[in-house]
Amino acid sequence: MDKQTLEDIARRLLADGKGLLAIDESTPTCGKRFEDYGIDNTEDNRRDYRALLLSAPGLGESVSGAILYDETLRMKTADGTPFPTMMNDNGVIPGIKVDTGAKDLAGHPSEKVTEGLDGLRDRLAEYHAMGARFAKWRAVITIGDGIPSAACYAANAHALARYAALCQEAGIVPIVEPEVLLDGDHDIDRCHDVTEKTLTRLFAELREQQVHLPGLILKASMVLPGKQAARQADVREVAQATLRCLYASVPASVPGVAFLSGGQSNESATAHLDAMNRIDGGAGPWTLTFSYARALQQPALDAWRGDAANVESAQNALLHRARCNSAAARGQYDPAQERQVA
Ligand code: 13P
Repeated sequence: MDKQTLEDIARRLLADGKGLLAIDESTPTCGKRFEDYGIDNTEDNRRDYRALLLSAPGLGESVSGAILYDETLRMKTADGTPFPTMMNDNGVIPGIKVDTGAKDLAGHPSEKVTEGLDGLRDRLAEYHAMGARFAKWRAVITIGDGIPSAACYAANAHALARYAALCQEAGIVPIVEPEVLLDGDHDIDRCHDVTEKTLTRLFAELREQQVHLPGLILKASMVLPGKQAARQADVREVAQATLRCLYASVPASVPGVAFLSGGQSNESATAHLDAMNRIDGGAGPWTLTFSYARALQQPALDAWRGDAANVESAQNALLHRARCNSAAARGQYDPAQERQVA
């Protein structure tokens, strides 16, 4: 493991005011997103959509890296340029989702464990040769009656740590993503408690597997009340609860936290990130930025609708959200920016 190389990649991914674009939906999930707009889930449509996002002019000014699905990393643009080359030319580092999905956890109804460790060493070597310099693995933690169970915390943390160790061996920066789902009617304190336990267990496992913490990025969910909770929290409350949770469970040697949006509205995801970066002038030990899928892509998909005539407006919609989130990553987001769509 070359620690310096890993730290350098992490530093580039967390460069000032930059974040990550997650476009690693599996083919079926991409199909679900397309279906809402009547777009056929064909390989050509998936390629055209991903190409328009990744080649948006100037994307690299606010997005340091993009997480792809296996199929996308292997694609070529219409003129035959491999996607990783096109991305690097646009200032965006190629990343790859390597887990094979969250499956039912045996003996634990309603809980999941993420799979994908078998054969991972070989896949990582191939991805590295294709240009991927970072990877993602998403674990899913569900809050409910009597859950998460101890078994769910343990199984997911263990898998994340073994994935992270394999990535670092391959010269790839692991993004470790334990997502505490927004579903449910729990309050913000319960989300805090579950997120803190999730992260505490995760870092214990990462240490046990000898993962080099300065060479990874944590992809965390924000601390929020459940979607069906009677009382929702205001922006400052979410920012304070999330930071408190990080301070309680994330070592200072971790260089950065890139949040997922998890079903928040586009503007809320931006406002929450901004508020966290304003607390104490963003003086915490970690870079706090974004790694959004839905909250970055949704307006672009809305504008594109599968029509080549809309490519430019779709790119502008993506660039607008990327710039708003870039400002939030610096604690300089002004909601008035929302009116400046090109
Ligand atoms: P959302 O921002 O839509 O939650 O997706 C982020 C992600 O990569 C989930 O794994």
